[in-house]
Amino acid sequence: MATNITFHPGSVTLAERVGLLKQTGVTIWLTGLSASGKSTIACALEQHLLHLNKFSYRLDGDNVRLGLNKDLGFDEKSRNENIRRIGEVSKLFADSSCITITAFISPYRADRALARDLHEKANLGFIEVFVDAPLHVVEQRDPKGLYKKARAGEIKEFTGISAPYEAPEIAELHIRTDESDVTQSVRIITEYLSSKGFI
Ligand code: PPS
Repeated sequence: MATNITFHPGSVTLAERVGLLKQTGVTIWLTGLSASGKSTIACALEQHLLHLNKFSYRLDGDNVRLGLNKDLGFDEKSRNENIRRIGEVSKLFADSSCITITAFISPYRADRALARDLHEKANLGFIEVFVDAPLHVVEQRDPKGLYKKARAGEIKEFTGISAPYEAPEIAELHIRTDESDVTQSVRIITEYLSSKGFI
């Protein structure tokens, strides 16, 4: 644990940065089961926002676990730490005025609440989006064959099968990906961003 650390403020305030860059940062936090559609929506949303000339960037579970979080597994403590780090990283991105899109299962309500709290304490927006599809649907999709392996006991602690997923009780948005396609999902999120003045 580091000691004797002092926060060093910059010369530009959050409000000044927003004015200079003409963009308010925010984190769009996608949460949902594996194969619910988080990464697909995140990619399409990032592309859409960039084509609107908005500074946007995506942080994706699999990708971040190949680098920054390569030391973490899938037991509860590791998932807590995974989401704690992503909460911190996404807060930094949002503080830089980026429209940040995170795509992590983030199965624990308390971890998502901590990420939200970090943002809100820093006066940054946090939009939780429940990317929802029933287990039997995601299991049928199974694009990486992971559910099949989990059912066969080849993957331990697999979310939805042998590890919990705590669905949001209050999320800003709830998208049923068994009912809306990716274009509709992106529209739901961009309409929300627009209604809140982020785009
Ligand atoms: S978490 O729960 O938020 O820490 O998970 P995340 O960082 O989003 O990583 C999820 C991706 O890791 C792969 N994978 C697993 N997922 C769930 N449970 C277990 N045991 C597991 N092992 C590997 C899987 O590809 C997940 O990606 P998505 O895109 O969600 O399918």
